[in-house]
Amino acid sequence: MMIWECPKQKQEDTGTWMTTLKNDTFLRALLKQPVEYTPVWLMRQAGRYLSEYNATRARAGDFLSLCKNPGFATEVTLQPLARFPLDAAILFSDILTIPDAMGLGLYFAQGEGPMFERPLRHEKEIHALTVPDPNAELRYVMDAVSEIRKALDNRVPLIGFSGSPFTLACYMVEGRGGTEFREIKTMLYERPELLHHILKINAQAVTAYLNAQIESGAQAVMIFDTWGGSLSQAAYLEFSLAYMQQIVSGLKREHDGVRIPCIVFTKGGGLWLESIAEIGCDAVGLDWTIDIGNARQRVGNKVALQGNLDPSVLFASPEIITAEVGKILESYGKGTGHVFNLGHGISQFTPPEHAAALVEAVHTLSRKYHE
Ligand code: CP3
Repeated sequence: MMIWECPKQKQEDTGTWMTTLKNDTFLRALLKQPVEYTPVWLMRQAGRYLSEYNATRARAGDFLSLCKNPGFATEVTLQPLARFPLDAAILFSDILTIPDAMGLGLYFAQGEGPMFERPLRHEKEIHALTVPDPNAELRYVMDAVSEIRKALDNRVPLIGFSGSPFTLACYMVEGRGGTEFREIKTMLYERPELLHHILKINAQAVTAYLNAQIESGAQAVMIFDTWGGSLSQAAYLEFSLAYMQQIVSGLKREHDGVRIPCIVFTKGGGLWLESIAEIGCDAVGLDWTIDIGNARQRVGNKVALQGNLDPSVLFASPEIITAEVGKILESYGKGTGHVFNLGHGISQFTPPEHAAALVEAVHTLSRKYHE
């Protein structure tokens, strides 16, 4: 019996071998290789602003059942790609799968966002924390990655992701989102060694989790540090960035002979760009508070940049969206190394036609910057 083998093609500029992706623009931009246009994807591109997402979620029962069923996760991952010519897919899951697998009891209360039944408040619980086996407790995520890769059929690359150790710790200690970080910041200043212990375990868990996603087929990975920006500069470097650096150093950077780029995104991290660009990642994600041209000057040739349209621009008309996209492309300027994205997740109140206008504007307006 003939076994069909995925054809491979030589990438002249890097000397690496790449599985034939029909569209590898996103991976090329992350590695600062030449592209014909600026690639684009949207944080939270599969989500409640799409009616088909809400329909699948209703069939699954709730959000967590959607995440934990690889068939449903595959279906919703592909939904935005069926609507818009996006240049990457992102695994449908959540950053809180890790603390859930650690036994903290994740649940979503109606209208409340994520909550934990057993937040970490006592020394004893903190010392009892263990690193989950990504191929056991988090098997459903790895199964989703492989199933999504099959369904994508090499159309565009698949991004795997995780939360940063500090952002995960925020939810693990606070027990919920939407707090003013009173519990975790008290721990940070009063019992720093306890927080360091949590962060050390989280960093090991994230490294193992991302490497398992890479082995299951993720072609790039992203670390979401949603709450690092709530820290002082000194605390950010010590309690967030240092642990992301550990992760980046422990990641598999190549799989099947193909380079796996890594993106680090600290929301509110604009002040610390130079330091973030030093940790060994390929790209830095930017929120919308910083000018991308200025960010490019600051990081020089070190990393690619991903971002950074204010998600609220998508509430305005397609004409205004097109103009705002144009400003970001112009500010970044000529050349590769830019992946277009929002500065944070797309709002559930975004009209899908406005997301379509964004993607089209990026694809058409960006060509002249790559001639
Ligand atoms: O980008 C994608 O399309 C992939 C999917 C994705 C989700 N969450 C799905 C999701 C990703 C990458 C995340 C990451 C995530 N989750 C982060 C980091 C990025 C960020 O937004 O800052 C954080 C902090 C979480 C934790 C989390 N999960 C929160 C705060 C919420 C509630 C959000 C809300 O809008 O109510 C979730 C739930 C969640 N994760 C939803 C989705 C689509 C909405 C759940 C629903 O269907 O009700």
